[in-house]
Amino acid sequence: MTELNQTTSSKSAGKVQSAAERYGVVDMPTLEYTPEVAKETAHLYEKVKHHIPEIEWPVHAPYVHAINKLKKERNAVILAHNYMTPEIFHCVADVAGDSLQLAMEAEKVDADIIVQCGVHFMAETSKLLSPEKTVLIPDMKAGCSLAESLTGEDVRLLREANPGVPIVTYVNTSADVKAESDICCTSSNAVRVVESFESDTILLIPDEFLAQNVAKLTKKKILTWKGHCEVHERFTPEELLAYKEADPAIQIVAHPECPPEVVDVADFSGSTSGMIDFAIGQKPGAKVLLVTECSMASNIQEQAKGVEFIKPCNLCPHMKRITLPNILESLVYMREEVVVDPVMAEKARHAVERMVNLKMN
Ligand code: 13P
Ligand code: SF4
Repeated sequence: MTELNQTTSSKSAGKVQSAAERYGVVDMPTLEYTPEVAKETAHLYEKVKHHIPEIEWPVHAPYVHAINKLKKERNAVILAHNYMTPEIFHCVADVAGDSLQLAMEAEKVDADIIVQCGVHFMAETSKLLSPEKTVLIPDMKAGCSLAESLTGEDVRLLREANPGVPIVTYVNTSADVKAESDICCTSSNAVRVVESFESDTILLIPDEFLAQNVAKLTKKKILTWKGHCEVHERFTPEELLAYKEADPAIQIVAHPECPPEVVDVADFSGSTSGMIDFAIGQKPGAKVLLVTECSMASNIQEQAKGVEFIKPCNLCPHMKRITLPNILESLVYMREEVVVDPVMAEKARHAVERMVNLKMN
């Protein structure tokens, strides 16, 4: 995880003040389930009661209470990806969404501090778009198999080997990689980004499966890389078709990080937010098989009233590193701060902003 180590302020030769020095640390709150905590978190328990047994709530509630209090005192906001666990998604997040929504929200939020509840590339993207804000991630080891698969040096070599071919990098990459690319994309705008270039050939890296899925939707020739999401690569068309054979009413909804043969058997494919919109748009009684990380179905059950979710459950071990205890520690001790080298950040920001502006037009 070299990229991560290079970007932590704790490794930057001690020249820059750490977030703890700038903001100060506070005492760890007492984590007791008092009558006051029970009363002030009761409305939040209502949102997660179908996923967290009543007997477990006294364990979560003191953290929820302390995080929400400290968030206000620190003028901090929590940006949470759709894969966070329900107690994070519903009880402490200020904004929840897919990668693109979180990147855009990071720029807009009126706060001094962002606590990114997601993986490292998401926190880094927030920092790129909001350099004046302090960005914290509760666990610096929350990585991503796609981001790990490609380095800036790889991109430089690809550019040399493919002169004149535009390089589109998936947002699931390090700032180093973004800095070497022409533009970024997410799963929700990849086709649009690819088609924004006049060139007939485009390098879309590092997700091989996303690239193959995009290639089916465009006339451009797409070159790619061998990166895979370790969560989505495990799904197979056989396992999904077995569900459909058992009940033909089931609608299969797959993330475009899945292999193309999996997307081929799906009724719909889109980013995590696209999948959520699809599910929410179904009538009560509909059966939706979500081919993605497990937490998402639990998070949206309330919005998708009456929809029955079938979950062939694959967990993202990186997303699951983010927990209520380490979110609280982030706010108490002001760690772990995401810092990007300013020269690299300037180039990487250009690639992300180009994507964001394309979405706006
Ligand atoms: P989304 O942009 O669709 O939220 O995807 C991010 C991700 O990491 C999916 O595995
Ligand atoms: Fe990366 Fe896959 Fe986890 Fe998303 S689900 S963060 S792409 S490993």
